Amino acid sequence: MSNLTLIGFMGTGKSTVGRICARRLNKRFVDTDSLIVQRVGATIPEIFHSQGESEFRRMERIVVDDLSHQSDLVISTGGGTALDPGNAALLRSCGLVILLTASPEMILRRVGRSQNRPLLANCSDPLARIRALLLEREPKYRHAAHFRVDTGKIHADAAANEVLMLFQLITGEGEPNETP
Ligand code: S3P
Repeated sequence: MSNLTLIGFMGTGKSTVGRICARRLNKRFVDTDSLIVQRVGATIPEIFHSQGESEFRRMERIVVDDLSHQSDLVISTGGGTALDPGNAALLRSCGLVILLTASPEMILRRVGRSQNRPLLANCSDPLARIRALLLEREPKYRHAAHFRVDTGKIHADAAANEVLMLFQLITGEGEPNETP
């Protein structure tokens, strides 16, 4: 149970909050998207475009399997990673899994019209797309997570405090009240 994994939709703060938690817990921070980009040698939009989403999801499963054999990590996942039941089970088996959430409006504000997110790129109504994806994904996120933290109205440091408090409650590790 030594890993801490953050799951949730794009723009919920997984990487930002994950980096803060890793620093405070003195654990290594890893990001599944970055690991895939390193392995493949192409950006995420390039992988989606040239090899398709299914190849990206296959790479995601390989990376999660690999990470599940390692300890003392803070893992930030891609927004779709934990939707795969196999990935969810592996992540739960090696640590605490926390779902970060935010409203569709806040997600849109945070991700903007980023071309780095193929699922939202070239979309005429990104808010409607975010709402539809959230509706479809919500039960799977809930199933995959041990706990959830809403990052919508709070700063990343405050969200990290909440995450660390849960991590300490369950594992006994960390000092949640440290000032960042
Ligand atoms: C995806 C989210 C992205 C990235 C890919 C697919 C998704 O990660 O993995 O574009 O399916 O929600 P972030 O959540 O880090 O943006």
